[in-house]
Order: sequence, then C-alpha cells, then structure tokens
Amino acid sequence: MRLDKFLADMGAGTRSEIKKNIRGGAVLVGGEPVRDPGFLLDETAAPEVTYFGEPVEYHVFEYYMMNKPAGVLTATVDKRQKTVLDLMEDDGEGGWRRRDLAPVGRLDKDTEGLLLISNDGQLAHRLLAPASHVDKTYYAELTVPVTREDIEKFQKGIQFDQNLTALPARMEIVSGDAAKVRITIQEGKFHQIRKMVAALGGGREVKYLKRISFGPLQLDPELMPGEYRKLTDQEIQELRTR
Ligand code: URA
Repeated sequence: MRLDKFLADMGAGTRSEIKKNIRGGAVLVGGEPVRDPGFLLDETAAPEVTYFGEPVEYHVFEYYMMNKPAGVLTATVDKRQKTVLDLMEDDGEGGWRRRDLAPVGRLDKDTEGLLLISNDGQLAHRLLAPASHVDKTYYAELTVPVTREDIEKFQKGIQFDQNLTALPARMEIVSGDAAKVRITIQEGKFHQIRKMVAALGGGREVKYLKRISFGPLQLDPELMPGEYRKLTDQEIQELRTR
C-alpha cells in the first residue's frame, strides 16, 4: 500500500496534508525518513511507521459496535445530515479513527441500537447475504398491543409489501405489556420491521425501535446512544465463525 494512503486510512489526516507532511520529513519507516508519498509499504510485514514521532499501528481490519442514536443517518457521509461516522471522532481509545470504516447494514434514521461498523468488506458482505440467515433482534414499542394471532402471523411469514412476504419471524411480548415486543428477523429489507408491524393492521405502528442483537453480538448496555467501542477479540472471533 502507498505510504500516503496507509496514513490516511489510519486517520492521520487528509491525503493532501499527509503528502505535504511526508515530503516535509514527518514520517519515518523503520527509523529512516521517507519523503516519497508513493513509497510502497508491505503491510503484511508490520512496518514500523511514525508520523511526527507517533507510532502508527496498522491493523488490517477494525470492528466497532455503536449504540446508534435516533436522528442520525446510517451512512459514511452526507451533505446535509449527520451520519454515524460523523459521531466517531476517534478510535474510542484516544487514538485516531481510521477513515475507511463503513456501517455494516443499515438502521433507519429513527431506529436506535446496535450497529456494526468496520472496514472488513468481506465479512460485511457475508453477514448481510440473505443466505447467511443472521438473526437480528429488535425491541419495539407499538401503538396498539399485539394478539396471539399477530404472533402467529409473524411466525407464518407476513406479507408486508405488495410483492414481499417476510420469512418466518419471532415475536415475543417482553413483559406484561403486549405493546412492547421483541422481534427477531433474518432479513434486512427497507423499513422491514415497521412494515411488518403495519401489515398486522388494526392501527399497529412502531413508535420506538431499537436493535438489541446482530448475529452473535449483543448491544453493550454500557454504551449510551451515540457511544461506540471496539469489539473484543472474542466478539470478532464469534462474528467470523458464525
Ligand atoms: N426494520 C425497520 O423497519 N427499521 C430498521 O431500522 C431496522 C429494521
């Protein structure tokens, strides 16, 4: 990988700033100054790179869990609205935040909860492929309580769009209040839960929606809306092997 791209991906600054600083001698590779922004690094050899004296560690992939707040777009950039990546100022541990991250799948602007963010495109692709049948569980508050019949409709696979029928989905009442439910689906079609609930009829709509799990990952209760953290090695392992 080119030295300037490496530093930009690791979050050291913009590509043009970095180029200028490389030319100015801010970068050492293996202790030697390198002034060519196009210098080719072998990332597999774990090169020792410093930028203004700070070591820049290279990780091929990084994985974060965010508790997405309502009112923020699941996107990398947007001209007008705040995105989940706008909320990530650093790596959550006081270091730079790398620039090649993207959300894995999407939550609606008004939906809260567990969002995986990574630069591992292959893993993202695999987790999102319909054939992977990754369970996603949501906590939902509805305008009208559900009935046993509604739960059965979800179990059978409800038609929620003119041409779309959802795969069988699990709906459970969370406590005594039948307007508060947990719903597990394996698909991720646009507005899927909202549309499935509306398709039950009787004025049922989703008032509040929060994703609480994604495959083997559970939303960390320590994360307040807008907060994020790196996945633990164990969580990464579970994602990779599921
Ligand atoms: N289903 C929805 O309707 N919205 C989401 O954000 C996720 C699932």
